[in-house]
Amino acid sequence: MQQFTTIADQRAWSRQQIRAGKRIGFVPTMGALHEGHISLVQQARAHSDVVVASVFVNPTQFDNPDDLANYPRTLAADAKMLEGAGVDVLFTPEAREIYQEGHCTFVEMVGPLTDKLCAATRPGHFRGVTTVVTKLFSIVQPDVAVFGEKDLQQVLIIARMVSDLNLPVEIVVAPTVRDADGLAMSSRNRRLNPDMRERALGLPRGLQLANRAFEHGERASLKLIEAVANELLVHPGVDLDYCNVVKLSGFQEVDQADDGCVLAAAVFIDGVRLIDHIHLGRETFPVALDD
Ligand code: PAJ
Repeated sequence: MQQFTTIADQRAWSRQQIRAGKRIGFVPTMGALHEGHISLVQQARAHSDVVVASVFVNPTQFDNPDDLANYPRTLAADAKMLEGAGVDVLFTPEAREIYQEGHCTFVEMVGPLTDKLCAATRPGHFRGVTTVVTKLFSIVQPDVAVFGEKDLQQVLIIARMVSDLNLPVEIVVAPTVRDADGLAMSSRNRRLNPDMRERALGLPRGLQLANRAFEHGERASLKLIEAVANELLVHPGVDLDYCNVVKLSGFQEVDQADDGCVLAAAVFIDGVRLIDHIHLGRETFPVALDD
C-alpha cells in the first residue's frame, strides 16, 4: 500500500490509473477505523480495480471544538487495517494541505435534507462534509465512492450533491455494521467506558422497541419517539439530541409513520454523541430485548 500526504502525489497517481484504464474506488474516512469502515473498503474493491482510502479529520465539519480535539486519532493502526483489507493507496493530508491559506470556498446545500436532524443540531456540519467530499473527489477522481448507511442523512446529502453538481462519481451505500450487542460501530465508541456503553445500548434497543410497536400497528410518531426516549432517558448523563420520524421520499418529518419512514435519533452519553436509525417495518437489529 502506498501512502500520500500531498494533493500533487495523489493526483499524479490517480491520473496514471485513469490513463491505464483502471476504475478507481474511494472510501473517505476520518480514521479510528473499525469493521464498518472495512466493509466499505470491501464494497469499493467489488466495484473497482484499485482502491483509495483517505483518513482526514476534517476540521470544517466539527461544530464543537472539544469534539474535534477529542476525536480519536489512530493512524498507524488504521494503515495496518487498510493494508490488510487490500487498499492500494492511503491518502492522509494535513489540514493545511486541504485548506490552504486564504481558503474561502464552500459547497452548501439548501432544502429539506439540510434543515433537520443532524443539520438542525450541528450548524455548519454538512457544509463541512459537502465541501471536503467535493474536494476529495476532485483530488482522488474516483469512479465510485462508498459511504455507510449508518450516517443516513450524510449519504443522502452526498448522493443529492453528486447529482446536483453532475459529479462523475457513482455512490454506493453500504449497510450499517453493528457489534454483537447491537450498537452501531462508530469511531466515537472508543470513548465509551463499559458503563457508558451499557447506557448507549438504549439507543438501538429503543429503536428496535419502537419498530416493534410500529409492527403492532402504532403509527403516531410521538409514541414511537417516546419508546426511544423511555429506553434512554431513565439513565443519568444521557441526553437526546433529537429523535424524529422522517419520510425518506422528500425527507419530511411526519406525525403519522408508514413503512417509507425512518426513526432517527442522536444521543449524548456523558457528552459523547452517537447516532442511529431504523427503517420502520423493514429492519431488525441484533439487540437483547426482554419481553
Ligand atoms: P467517518 O465517520 O470516519 O465515516 C467514514 C465512512 O464510514 C462513512 O461513509 C460512514 O457512514 C461509514 N461508517 C461509519 N460507521 C459505520 C458502520 N458502523 N457501518 C457502516 N459504515 C459505517 O463520515 C465521515 O467519516 C466523514 O463525514 C467523511 C464522509 C469522511 C467526510 O469527512
